[in-house]
Amino acid sequence: MTDAIKPPRGVSRRGLLTGGAVAAGGALAGGAAIAAARPDDSGRPGDPIPVAQVGGAVEPFHGGRQSGVTTEPQAHAAFVAFTLKPGTDRASLGRMLRLLSDDAARLTQGRPSLADTEPELGLLPARLTVTFGFGPGLYAAAGRADRRTPSVADLPAFRIDRLQPRWSGGDLLLQICADDPLTVAHAQRVLVKDSRPFASVRWVQQGFRRAAGAEPGRTQRNLFGQLDGTANPKPGAPADTAVWVTDGPDWLRDSTTLVVRRISMNLETWDLLGRTDREVAVGRRLDTGAPLTGAAEHDEPDFAALGPDGLTVIPDFSHLTRAHVTDDRLKILRRPYNYDGVPTAEGHADSGLIFASYQADITRQFLPIQRRLAERDLLNEWTTPIGSAVFAVPPGCPEGGWIGQQVLG
Ligand code: HEM
Repeated sequence: MTDAIKPPRGVSRRGLLTGGAVAAGGALAGGAAIAAARPDDSGRPGDPIPVAQVGGAVEPFHGGRQSGVTTEPQAHAAFVAFTLKPGTDRASLGRMLRLLSDDAARLTQGRPSLADTEPELGLLPARLTVTFGFGPGLYAAAGRADRRTPSVADLPAFRIDRLQPRWSGGDLLLQICADDPLTVAHAQRVLVKDSRPFASVRWVQQGFRRAAGAEPGRTQRNLFGQLDGTANPKPGAPADTAVWVTDGPDWLRDSTTLVVRRISMNLETWDLLGRTDREVAVGRRLDTGAPLTGAAEHDEPDFAALGPDGLTVIPDFSHLTRAHVTDDRLKILRRPYNYDGVPTAEGHADSGLIFASYQADITRQFLPIQRRLAERDLLNEWTTPIGSAVFAVPPGCPEGGWIGQQVLG
């Protein structure tokens, strides 16, 4: 067991420490407390960050691409969807996005927002990211339908869907992630407060993964106990084009899209299954996450391998077979969070997955996978989509800029 977490790729431990300390110190005297809480910065770049320093770790806000997409997933998330108020037009949208971008730029760097009513809560960013998503309605309100990526449109209905309006749709999404739940709660409060004149809260979904530093470098587990995220595209060239739009006009280049599906997981009936049946449903082992034809988590599955009974070892109705994508450019980046609501009085769980996937194009990448899963996937026996929403994730912004400036401009 280790007590460290990895810093984000390309960010040195020294950079995290000094960047955070400078930012926090610039805002309030309390910033000094953060700097003081960190031991000397003698570590080498790329060294894991000791758990004691989780609170001070910083992710960038400004840049060509928004953070919170390929950022190593933080432990806690709030997905906050808004409905624009009637009369919110391009000019008022611009005012709202300037304000929310300013809040996000400050809070992510460990500085309280302007007129922050609880400034002390703004001092520990804990790798806070705020990722902005634009639903189809935002483009309509802005009179910018011409700048909506065509694939950002309501998904077709699938026969497995039992969608509830209370978890579906949205004109604007803020995906707020951090390694500390209090940081997420404070950021959510500030952003919701500042959006009030322009938009009303449509839904909020809060989720979690393992605590920061609990299992560094390991794939997270969902509430079925499965390793979830093994086959995600690896950082690098093919993944880059799978996740990001890499050319086109400035409002499109360096954008991506986000699908959020709230999927309820029936733990009661899942509990009735034996271990082998659970592994067959997915096509991977529960302990190691290895495909049923392999020994280690990242072994390539062999879909043609036959068992002694003459049937394929990985059944063709398994989640793995149905979801598998071989072309790197067609993969999706899954960045899900677990949710666990209040059980019923009879003790039945309200648990599931906030399935969130990033891809350059929903129609080309997400939809074929979702269609195959809806048609036949043994996992459907225990899972039910109860919410669905799609968003464009516009490019990032430089210092002094705001998210959406290329879209609305
Ligand atoms: C509650 C619902 C779901 C659960 C519990 C679940 C669980 C899993 C697990 C355990 C794996 C194998 C390990 C891994 O590669 O991550 C997996 C793989 C995968 N899942 Fe899901 N999943 C769910 C929903 C979905 C949905 C809605 C989609 C997309 C429409 C999806 C797409 C994929 C993909 C693309 C893979 C990788 C397949 C491969 O190439 O090997 N999953 N999922």
